[in-house]
Amino acid sequence: MRHEQRSPADPLTALLDRVRVRLRDLDDGEPASYIPELSRVDPDLFGLSLCALDGQVYGSGDTRVPFTVQSVSKPFVFALALADRGLPEVLARVGAEPSGEAFNSIRLEPGTGRPPNPMVNAGAIVTSSLVAGDTPEARSTRILDGLAAFAGRPLDIDEAVYASERATGDRNRALAYLMHNAGWLTGDVEEQLGVYFRQCSVLVTCDDLAVMHATLAGGGVNPVTGRRVVAPRHAQHVLAVMATCGMYDASGQWMLKVGMPAKSGVSGAIGVALPGQFGIGVFSPPLEEKGNSVRGIAACHLLSDQFGLHLM
Ligand code: DON
Repeated sequence: MRHEQRSPADPLTALLDRVRVRLRDLDDGEPASYIPELSRVDPDLFGLSLCALDGQVYGSGDTRVPFTVQSVSKPFVFALALADRGLPEVLARVGAEPSGEAFNSIRLEPGTGRPPNPMVNAGAIVTSSLVAGDTPEARSTRILDGLAAFAGRPLDIDEAVYASERATGDRNRALAYLMHNAGWLTGDVEEQLGVYFRQCSVLVTCDDLAVMHATLAGGGVNPVTGRRVVAPRHAQHVLAVMATCGMYDASGQWMLKVGMPAKSGVSGAIGVALPGQFGIGVFSPPLEEKGNSVRGIAACHLLSDQFGLHLM
């Protein structure tokens, strides 16, 4: 067992248990089906993990069941692009403004066609192209190793989900060709899409998400391994963009009600980072209409309320 978890008598574990038990019968939403392989998941899976900055991981439910990271990869790949290129070079290719649009919106910046921010699909396709590496394979390896450094353990790719998304990802393909035409995405479009689809297909668990977000919350040092993954200022930039853009067109409501930087993914994952405090990972596949986990949102609302975690 990688992370030692305290006994259920531990107050934090008991609290996570209470939140999960209270929400497990909430049965709204459906797992994503536009990536066919994602619809094969058990909709009842539900896990909740928290990693404190001393490296202790607490959890309740299905915290060690693997699922694909999907869009929760975006802040971490943005962090890697910042580490490899620096903020000015990254911002020259992708904006930092909330779009108020869905994650897969085809609306790019008026006039220029630049992607609005690194959290929507368009921006994420560009940020993954900015990670260091002379070939698509090298960039994919850098991304897999980078995500593993955030998680504190080696990670793998779900090849079936990768193939499923690659076969059906025409909307991302269209976005990538538009951005290539406008000069924001360089190189071979299909190869670059492969790097992005692979990044979305990396397998993680709830515990991993908690550790990954604790690494951002702790200024770029993984609290389990003690290893610095990115510079403090880059962790800060990532948290800022998560706070404003991480929940897409639900980002304003999220900041109002939950008040912590977060990122969701269509596998049903949500990651939350409370700067200087901890990281949270939630996994429950059924999604609301904006592509966010129904139980995940409810769990974050409850935790924020009960602990008074709202940053403002
Ligand atoms: O590109 C896509 O559509 C997916 N691989 C990721 C989208 C996603 O996770 C949006 N999050 N809620």
